[in-house]
Amino acid sequence: MKSNHKLLIAVIAGSTAIVGAAIILCVFYIYYYRRKSHRQNVYRLSCLDSDKMSGSCRALMMDFKKIESATDNFRETNILGAGGFGCVYQGHLQPANISIAVKKLSNADAITQFQTEVELLSKIEHPNIITLLGYCIHGETRLLVYQLMHNGSLETQLHGPSKGSALTWHLRLKIALDVARGLEYLHKHCRPRIIHRDLKSSNILLDSNFNAKLSDFGLAILDGSQKKSQLKLSGTLGYVAPEYLLDAPPHTQSTVSWAMPQLTDRTKLPNIVDPVIANSMDMKHLYQVAAVALLCIQPEPSYRPLIADILLSLVPLVPVELGGTLRDEKSLKPATYVHT
Ligand SMILES: *[C@@H]1O[C@H](CO)[C@@H](O)[C@H](O)[C@H]1NC(C)=O
Ligand SMILES: *[C@@H]1O[C@H](CO)[C@@H](O)[C@H](O)[C@H]1NC(C)=O
Repeated sequence: MKSNHKLLIAVIAGSTAIVGAAIILCVFYIYYYRRKSHRQNVYRLSCLDSDKMSGSCRALMMDFKKIESATDNFRETNILGAGGFGCVYQGHLQPANISIAVKKLSNADAITQFQTEVELLSKIEHPNIITLLGYCIHGETRLLVYQLMHNGSLETQLHGPSKGSALTWHLRLKIALDVARGLEYLHKHCRPRIIHRDLKSSNILLDSNFNAKLSDFGLAILDGSQKKSQLKLSGTLGYVAPEYLLDAPPHTQSTVSWAMPQLTDRTKLPNIVDPVIANSMDMKHLYQVAAVALLCIQPEPSYRPLIADILLSLVPLVPVELGGTLRDEKSLKPATYVHT
């Protein structure tokens, strides 16, 4: 009777150990498999994992109350702009009284874009890319805090009340060069490359000296993080590369298809120049800019120049006092995104 009892205990103990080991192995396998499949698709977004600023992230987790008081409780008179995502407020961050712009996101789509923007921008430090000062998660609300850009967006300057009168020919070329510098940084100095995917005049912001900075990285991707076929059509019709437009609804007006016939014909070229700058424009420079623009809108992607080549072709067209010199890009801090 006693030995039977012992045998029973041994059997139970043995099978418990085997089942336990199997469970542990399963857990390890699932964990390993998850990590592996995660690794194949996603560059891990590490900034949001901790409440504090981590070593690689410059942007700070900010207190909601601090942002609330900086914007006078998100007062209506502080609104700088609004979009599908929510509103942008102007404010002053105390005690240093730093002028800020706060993007308040509320819809579900915007929350993914918030994460992308924090992860990408918190590692970028470049004179032609917007500086993200901080972020905040408060219930369903997501807040992004940027340095304030006093002269608004290129779109507002061109199409707002001043109708482009503040932007001379040379200033416009300087803005184009600044944009090229920002893009070159994303394409050449970030590892992996960052593809912005929504470049347009409303996402090019201007500081009080009309230095241009790229903003709105909510749709940006790290090159190689997703298969091309998995990418949804993104960006704004009229600005995206022509091959993105193949599935676009008919009658969609694209800036590219409008400009193409006029860019190829020197006699038609002056017709597409903004009348506001027609007098301050240098004809020889206009031909050169048109030649660069034409290369950029080639239907075949591989015929389009690299942004580094565009940058080199724009430098001689911008007066030195507006930044028309080659900069030592080696001094730039590269941004590296870890693949974990
Ligand atoms: C903060 O700066 C703005 C101008 O940038 C000024 O109008 C305002 O009075 C300042 N506020 C404080 C508390 O110093
Ligand atoms: C640009 O910003 C400066 C500084 O805030 C301001 O004085 C100027 O009026 C602005 N110009 C335009 C055209 O917005």
